[in-house]
Amino acid sequence: MFELKIGIIVYSQTGNTFSAVEQLQKKLSKNGHNAYIERLKPLNPDKIKPGTENIKYKEVPDLTKYEGYIFAGPVHAFSISAGLQSYLNEIHSLDNKKTACLITKGLPFNWTGGNRALNQLKRLVKSKEGEYIAGGIINWMNYKRKKDIEKVTAKISSSF
Ligand SMILES: Cc1cc2nc3c(=O)[nH]c(=O)nc-3n(C[C@H](O)[C@H](O)[C@H](O)COP(=O)(O)O)c2cc1C
Repeated sequence: MFELKIGIIVYSQTGNTFSAVEQLQKKLSKNGHNAYIERLKPLNPDKIKPGTENIKYKEVPDLTKYEGYIFAGPVHAFSISAGLQSYLNEIHSLDNKKTACLITKGLPFNWTGGNRALNQLKRLVKSKEGEYIAGGIINWMNYKRKKDIEKVTAKISSSF
């Protein structure tokens, strides 16, 4: 296995997705990778609603320094959250580098946006010339959340 420098780009409004990627970072380190978390912080967080476009961030991660990527964020209104979508829309190219995605959601049942958001992310990654390698959904309200986090982070970290 090759050691990769992996950028974990996360948008997290209330901290759930952020805590999941912290666990993912630990798993990636155990697997021999160097993983760095970069949290997207909008300049005007109160103005962000589902569908908001052209969001300005305090800092925009420089993706060129990484050899692989993870994009993570919550489901908002049955879609990827605007805070992540707006950032991804502006990316130039992922240069065929390995890319995984992690989604968290709050509502129970499969039809409440998780699969839809993950598919949107997958399409976005491919449209930006990324090599999509894995994705996972964590239901934050589920009593099996801990197991879900374990499963999804293990799957993603072992796919690099
Ligand atoms: C504006 C808004 C819309 C949401 N819409 C959905 C939804 O459509 N489906 C769902 O399962 N959860 C939905 N949620 C719940 C979040 O996806 C869930 O709490 C998530 O873990 C939050 O992640 P974060 O703490 O990283 O922001 C919504 C939350 C907010 C604030």
